[in-house]
Amino acid sequence: MKHNYFKSGIVIALLAVFSLLAIQSEAYPPFVRQSAKFGAKDCTFCHTEPQGGEGWNERGKWLMAEKTKRNADSINVEWLSEYDSNATAAPANKTEDKGDKWAELESYHEIMSQTFHPAEEGNLKPIRSQAGELAARAQKWLDSKPPLMYGVPSIKAILVKLNAESKALAELVNKNGSDEDVKKSITALHDRFHEIIGACRVEKEKKK
Ligand code: HEC
Repeated sequence: MKHNYFKSGIVIALLAVFSLLAIQSEAYPPFVRQSAKFGAKDCTFCHTEPQGGEGWNERGKWLMAEKTKRNADSINVEWLSEYDSNATAAPANKTEDKGDKWAELESYHEIMSQTFHPAEEGNLKPIRSQAGELAARAQKWLDSKPPLMYGVPSIKAILVKLNAESKALAELVNKNGSDEDVKKSITALHDRFHEIIGACRVEKEKKK
């Protein structure tokens, strides 16, 4: 008898675990349905992986940040109405107007600093492996919508050059260019990057 109680205890415990798992995974697909009006087709609307779970794209990360900001218990897909007006060229959002955050700039800078500083010291491995990524991020940066204060032709003009030069560096690396040429190219590109940072600083000062 005792033995049977024990067995059914295990069965019940297992059932509980399975139904919890089922509830958990069923909690997410509604996200897709609820956010269909914002353009969602599948989990990759917010996740980096098609099967969802760990790893979120900008939208997913934004939702999680909102959850913290709003002190909410769970994500509310309706918040996306604010995200969308933020991300598209729709009427400017007030916080963005005043902001100087330019995610694509930071994303480019990340690779630039990971590759340029080793290159300065003669280690060209990072830039040789990341030149393609650097060029891709330059293009994304060029295509992005700048914070209002940086949306000026002078900055755009330097950004166009930076994009072309990032592509040229990627090609040079692709062709297995010499260390000397690669170093020269990444150094010039780093200067170009700081030209933009300088121009941004000028615009920011103007707005004060
Ligand atoms: C509208 C955006 C959105 C969509 C669409 C979406 N998710 Fe999510 N998902 C999130 C966010 C945001 C979290 C984090 C929730 C939190 O932190 O409270 C999350 C969390 C999860 C988690 C928990 C992961 C963990 O480690 O915490 C799973 C599993 C998951 N989603 C699966 C899916 C699946 C499967 C789909 C597609 C059927 C999907 N999601 C669609 C936004 C979304």
